[in-house]
Amino acid sequence: MNYRHIFHAGNFADVAKHVGLVCLLERLAAKGKPFAYVDTHAGAGLYDLRRSEVRRSGEAEEGIRRLATSPVPEGVIGRYLQLVRSFQPHADALDVYPGSPLIAQRMMREADRALLCELQPGQARLLRQQIGTDRRFGIHHRDGYEGLGALLPPQPRRGMVLIDPPYEQEHELQRLIPALEQATRRWPTGIFVVWYPIKHRRDLRGFYRQLAGAGIGPVLLAELGVRPGDNEARLNGSGLAIIRPPWQIEQTLTTAWSELARRLGDAGGAWSDVRWLSRSAPAVEVETRKVRRRSKPAAATARMRTPR
Ligand SMILES: C[S@@+](CC[C@H](N)C(=O)[O-])C[C@H]1O[C@@H](n2cnc3c(N)ncnc32)[C@H](O)[C@@H]1O
Repeated sequence: MNYRHIFHAGNFADVAKHVGLVCLLERLAAKGKPFAYVDTHAGAGLYDLRRSEVRRSGEAEEGIRRLATSPVPEGVIGRYLQLVRSFQPHADALDVYPGSPLIAQRMMREADRALLCELQPGQARLLRQQIGTDRRFGIHHRDGYEGLGALLPPQPRRGMVLIDPPYEQEHELQRLIPALEQATRRWPTGIFVVWYPIKHRRDLRGFYRQLAGAGIGPVLLAELGVRPGDNEARLNGSGLAIIRPPWQIEQTLTTAWSELARRLGDAGGAWSDVRWLSRSAPAVEVETRKVRRRSKPAAATARMRTPR
């Protein structure tokens, strides 16, 4: 496992993912009932943007730094920026970037609960330090896909899962899709969110086919490209596949995603696309099996691999 998120922290894909996360957590917190937040690939929690890895990659410059230096937008992007600012040790600087677990921690209420998995020992250690003694959290140094099998359904029974793998393994989809099928059955009321990279858009066909054929319920795709999605050599965009999305969230995401494309995109080449992949209820078991046999996970994943 070579992946280190510090190189990518605060890049455009992190920004879009975390704006989506804020949007979903706001919906969950809008009701008085408590919710559970599950993060299968949690990372270190907080990233120091002053570190040499961040400067070397330059990715945060084209993500959070670019967004934070433009006039503060209204709506969910503005609230996300406010949240990022609330982590800064110095008011006028952007020194650190909060990852998904810390964003969730800030947005959770007393009765809400979180379960985090992180496989890399160093990252898991940092994550524990960042979360501190917060009794609402369970932190597991373990494989996130195994965690899904062991930890779902959580208590309370309403909430969401974020699945945010590094896609450095060729067989990532071979693990992701079956784990998703099993997890959505174990937690039939949970919202599931899968992050995925976009290099050449045509290479996503296999991923879409497998998701749509998995019989896991309605799937909304929210995709953002900062450049045309026609180059296999680099990360041009990213997407969130939202399984069982909250009612009418596509309207909020459509507005936010086109705003992000305008603010983060390279001149002329940026795009955003929020659309339904499938609106259907889960298919019956026999249909799920048929579709699974026809799909080609390894080939699809090979083209989705890093750089993120
Ligand atoms: C993209 S980063 C996570 C970022 C985080 N979700 C966020 O938004 O701030 C992916 C993380 O998954 C971890 N990881 C890789 N394979 C894993 C696995 N099988 N189970 C759990 N964690 C894994 C990596 O060490 C890395 O920290």
